[in-house]
Amino acid sequence: MPTIREVASRAGVSPTTVSHVINNTRFVSADARQRVLDAMAELNYRPNVLARSLRRGETRTLGLILPDSANPFFAEIARAIEDSAFRNGYNVILGNSENELTKEQVYVDVLVNKQVDGLIFVATGDHSPSLEQLVRDGLPVVVVDRRLTGLDVDTVLTDNLQGGLTATRYLLDLGHRRIACITGPSNLTPSAERVIGYRQALQERSLPVDESLIRKGDFHPHSGYLTVSQLLHSAPRPTAFFICNDMMAIGALRALAEAGLQVPQDCSLVGYDDIELASYVTPPLTTIRQDKNAMADAAVQLLLERIADPGLPARTRILPIRLVERQSTRRIA
Ligand code: RIB
Repeated sequence: MPTIREVASRAGVSPTTVSHVINNTRFVSADARQRVLDAMAELNYRPNVLARSLRRGETRTLGLILPDSANPFFAEIARAIEDSAFRNGYNVILGNSENELTKEQVYVDVLVNKQVDGLIFVATGDHSPSLEQLVRDGLPVVVVDRRLTGLDVDTVLTDNLQGGLTATRYLLDLGHRRIACITGPSNLTPSAERVIGYRQALQERSLPVDESLIRKGDFHPHSGYLTVSQLLHSAPRPTAFFICNDMMAIGALRALAEAGLQVPQDCSLVGYDDIELASYVTPPLTTIRQDKNAMADAAVQLLLERIADPGLPARTRILPIRLVERQSTRRIA
């Protein structure tokens, strides 16, 4: 097994410089960095991570637990978090809880055993017993996207109530009055807050909230397809839909097409998330944008600050949303 000194000698740098390149703990010029990486490859050098972590009490690795890695919103969040962590000298281990508390617990245990230095966590619901224990045990944790009730922990959210309010006000300003709302799972704070915003937009114009126009989805495309299909058979049918995530809005597009309805000529749609797909479906979706890069940067920053100073008070960042107008909506009055 080659040693760090042999790598340093071959690269023409000091062993300390090699250590800084491996641990990303100090700036090293691009030339020197490349010479070290080349020497490591030529010598097939593998730093002893366990020895380093035991010596320094850190593995330079972060855990990330997501509820549904197949949903592009979370795939994009995961990519952004990995990018941000890597820029800060950390690697990321991802666990997918599949929206199941039992699987979430498994991944919490796996990541703790891997001795991650900190954990970024998107909950499967509004509470997480396994996470509560971790926070009490002092592992640095940042909760993202879904607020956890009763837990004093660093949190990064977006303004979901404002998102529902903005989407619905926008449709009202286009002249729509029969606006349906397809929600996400009711136990998730982002969905619940978007629906509050939807109701608030109607109430502030003294318009009635027709409960039959609010249908429960599950954030997956098929629930958007099913709920919108059902609503198209109600009389009079909605002229617009506010759908609480883009994946359900994509399912709704198929329901409208099967009903022979044109978007936006016959019906307007507003989605939520602004995943990359939203601008490539036909017609491109008008949606509420959650800035996934900003969410990721905030989460990684809070976590690294917590790792550096575990005694910090818990902080909450609520990031703004923005309406992205494309071609799935039109004025009707
Ligand atoms: O599309 C997945 C949804 O779940 C997003 O709106 C995100 O906010 C998460 O809560």
